[in-house]
Amino acid sequence: MCGIVGYAGARPALGIVLDGLRRLEYRGYDSAGVAVVCEGELLTEKKAGKLANLEKVLAERPAADPVFGDGATAPGIGVGTTGIGHTRWATHGGPTDRNAHPHTAGDGRVAVIHNGIIENFAKLRAELEAEGVEFSSDTDTECAAHLLAGELARLRAAGEPDGPRLLAVAMRQVCQRLEGAFTLLAVDAGIPGAVVGARRNSPLVVGRGVGENYLASDVSAFIEHTREAVELGQDQVVLITADDIEITDFAGAPASGKDFHIDWDASAAEKGGYDYFMLKEIAEQPQAIADTLLGRLTENGEIALDEVRLTDQDLRDVDKIFIVACGTAYHAGMVAKYAIEHWTRIPCEVELASEFRYRDPVLDRSTLVVAISQSGETMDTLMALRHAKEQKARVLAICNTNGSTIPRESDAVLYTHGGPEVAVASTKAFLTQLVACYLIGLHLAQVRGIKYADEVAAVVAQLQEMPDKLRELLAGIEPVRELARDIKAAPTVLFIGRHVGFPVALEGALKLKELAYMHAEGFAAGELKHGPIALIDQGTPVVCVVPSPAGRGMLHDKIVSNIQEIRARGARTIVIAEEGDTAVTPYADHLIYVPRTPTLLAPLVTTVPLQVLACEIAAARGHDVDQPRNLAKSVTVE
Ligand code: M6R
Repeated sequence: MCGIVGYAGARPALGIVLDGLRRLEYRGYDSAGVAVVCEGELLTEKKAGKLANLEKVLAERPAADPVFGDGATAPGIGVGTTGIGHTRWATHGGPTDRNAHPHTAGDGRVAVIHNGIIENFAKLRAELEAEGVEFSSDTDTECAAHLLAGELARLRAAGEPDGPRLLAVAMRQVCQRLEGAFTLLAVDAGIPGAVVGARRNSPLVVGRGVGENYLASDVSAFIEHTREAVELGQDQVVLITADDIEITDFAGAPASGKDFHIDWDASAAEKGGYDYFMLKEIAEQPQAIADTLLGRLTENGEIALDEVRLTDQDLRDVDKIFIVACGTAYHAGMVAKYAIEHWTRIPCEVELASEFRYRDPVLDRSTLVVAISQSGETMDTLMALRHAKEQKARVLAICNTNGSTIPRESDAVLYTHGGPEVAVASTKAFLTQLVACYLIGLHLAQVRGIKYADEVAAVVAQLQEMPDKLRELLAGIEPVRELARDIKAAPTVLFIGRHVGFPVALEGALKLKELAYMHAEGFAAGELKHGPIALIDQGTPVVCVVPSPAGRGMLHDKIVSNIQEIRARGARTIVIAEEGDTAVTPYADHLIYVPRTPTLLAPLVTTVPLQVLACEIAAARGHDVDQPRNLAKSVTVE
């Protein structure tokens, strides 16, 4: 939630900050704002709504800014070479101009932007108000701005030498007073050339340039300029100037980050001719799967994870697996349960990360917790992971974002090489998470001696066929688009599936809810008769995810019966079935064939028509496909 960018260098900061915000807008789009330090002045602009609103206001600004009391002007906001910018997902205070960041203090000379929640803000605000500070927003962030301005004033009054380090000293003092989760960036009009950042339980990475440096919520904000980045640790303050990056802990002790190279290029974060990022990301799925599989089989036929701080003996000792994740990643976990239990015979439970720690799960050293997260920053998943570690469980992360918190705090990591996913709705992240889960299941089975190398290689070979199958599927997807336009006005759309088709049904319904704002629900097909079948009315579209008849025939026959039951009650059936499955033909009002795929791998193909369906319905209803209302891509609050 919230996208944050900071720049210190020799080039005009405004354009660089705005470009960064454009790339981070998926993190929140309730408002946007910038602050630029320019010849001893702080120039700010902020606006409710999407970044485009801010850009419009900036375009209307005069070339020079009237900032001095006597009517004199400063060079325009486009000139300063130090700046910060923010795109907001509202927590405290509605999505209005006044609540947009940056928040200023100290007579408008200090600007602060923030991601996260300052949990003790009410107490801090009361203290500040008692001292006579006047607030001009409803946000928790404004407390940090006033505290920082107060610290700077105090340090200056005490005769501390002015300059970039003063900003860092003041920020450290402020951080010690804050509770909760936060990334903060700040600039001071009197300290040109420096941006200070701080992080606790909220993302912040440094981009290392030549004669310029960057701070951002994630690397996509600066990959256009540099692919060298520094991962920050927990509770650290970072000061950037054009030529220097200085990291300390909150107490001021020198600290270091971890350098890493970003292997995405800038074009990966552009739309590339597609109308929406989501369409581009759907189309990228074959490659994303191929990349996630790349180099996973060692010469000995073993599966290679990326960063493993677990021994084979640790994995042999595992007697129980919990998968924790949220939203789409949770659905990937549900599919994984079928594969992992089937291949390893280890009991595997899937838990919503937001519920996990509150129900006091039974965990110990022989429990493996698999945390799945595209962003690697989802607070619910992070908290579940930390709880697991406190209970001495081993944690293995599946993540798409190098340098993010979840993989950093885990004992082992398998990165999905999906490239940047910008659309809020998860597509390629889901498919690559599935691939990663399959690989982990196979790795565990092999390490524990349940599967031989050649058996593992056979499944990997089936996985390697999936990119071509997906290309074939995507090439023939037009009928799904037509169908979408046809059912766009339906009041309700239901999704049913069995076995691994059940999580696919849940995922199809989630996509439709989040993008088209329609009532949609997914069910295990067998559960229909226990209640939900009452929802079916004349013409209700029901998407039926049918398993392969070549897998477990019984499963296939059961769902064919379920389809007949709902059709008899007036449902308009949209059947997703394997090529050549003629048994479903008589009961399908619309039949969408997917390539033949082994049962456990079928979600890699059956999910795709549902992604396209939701995307097209949303577009046909006139919604913003990439940035659906009320949502943000990276959910860094609990
Ligand atoms: O970054 P994460 O994978 O941890 O995100 C988890 C969910 O917020 C995410 O999958 C969400 O449900 C999707 N945007 C839905 O399309």
